[in-house]
Amino acid sequence: MKTVVPRSHWITILPSGVGFACYEGEAILDGISRAGKKNIPVGCANGGCGICKVVVRRGIYFKLGAMSRAHVSEDDETRGVVLACKVSPQSPLDLTCIGKLENRIYRHGMLNREGE
Ligand code: FES
Repeated sequence: MKTVVPRSHWITILPSGVGFACYEGEAILDGISRAGKKNIPVGCANGGCGICKVVVRRGIYFKLGAMSRAHVSEDDETRGVVLACKVSPQSPLDLTCIGKLENRIYRHGMLNREGE
C-alpha cells in the first residue's frame, strides 16, 4: 500500500524569520499550533472572530472557506490580509502577524520585535 505524504511549505513570520512547516490543505493557524507554538490564540478557528489576522507578504495561498468581512474587507484581501485559520499555503509564504495575534505572540515571548 502506497502512503501519500501531503506536500508542505515553509512559512516564515516576519520580521523575526521564525518559521514552521505547514501542509497544503492545512490552515496556517493549525500549522503554527502543530509546530508547538503555544499561547497563540485560536479563537473560533472558523474565520469569524478575526483574532488570527495576518498579511501575506510573499507566496501563494488558497482559501479554505469564507472570512468574516467584519475583519477582512475586500480591499484588505487584495493587499494580502487574511485570516490564518482560513488559508493554506500553496508555496512558501512570508507573513506578518497583525492585530490581536501579533500582540499575543510578542507578549508571550514567542517572537521579539527586533527579530532576534
Ligand atoms: S481564529 Fe477566529 S478568525 Fe481565525
